[in-house]
Amino acid sequence: MKDRNPSRESPEKKAAGIAAADLVSDGMVVGLGTGSTTAYTISELGRRVARGLDIIAVVTSYQSEMLAIQAGITLTSLAEHPEIDIAIDGADQIDSNLNVIKGGGAAHTREKVVSCAAKRFVIVADESKMSDQLDHYVPLEVLPYARELVFKKIKDICGDPVLRLASKKDGPVISDNGNFIIDASFGMIHDPLALSENLSHITGIVEHGIFINVDDVYIGKKNGKVGMLKSQKK
Ligand code: A5P
Repeated sequence: MKDRNPSRESPEKKAAGIAAADLVSDGMVVGLGTGSTTAYTISELGRRVARGLDIIAVVTSYQSEMLAIQAGITLTSLAEHPEIDIAIDGADQIDSNLNVIKGGGAAHTREKVVSCAAKRFVIVADESKMSDQLDHYVPLEVLPYARELVFKKIKDICGDPVLRLASKKDGPVISDNGNFIIDASFGMIHDPLALSENLSHITGIVEHGIFINVDDVYIGKKNGKVGMLKSQKK
């Protein structure tokens, strides 16, 4: 199980999270992602706001809302600002074409909404997240009522679905939107776009964790440097 504790220091995540804050400038509407890497970006933006940076932000989860309030960042809603200048978010796995799997923290539905509202979508991660091809399980946010139907449909496309269980509550994880999370493994994902489209067509899945809309990736390395990768897709 990977470490999701944002209070545990990771120099690689910190380097990537802070480097991405340089992309944010006065007047921007910023999408704030969820997870331990984005937590560094939010703290850094808070420090810059205290020094005069003038931004407003849309959050993707209760976690990012709490961190942003703590950091002193002014919040707005997606309803008020449906166009976002830049969204910065973490990843669970990134392939060589910058396709990404997200949702390890069960926040991928709002993260995808915010990323699709953004003119620029930037991923921040440590180098352990990079892989030639995607083979991480794909988190699915699912209507509780439809869970058995989704289980069947995932098996029909040769996936292995597992209901995500809570660690400090009996029973399933409940997302910020009140839904269940099913983690579906597909082995090596040779065609992320095709799998993304297949999952989008399964009724009962609110949103899946494959993101094919990434513009840039900031990778924090063990030597303290940050590598920057640009998508060739756009
Ligand atoms: C939240 O649901 C996820 O999409 C996170 O953004 C992702 O799991 C990255 O998390 P870390 O930055 O904690 O590795």
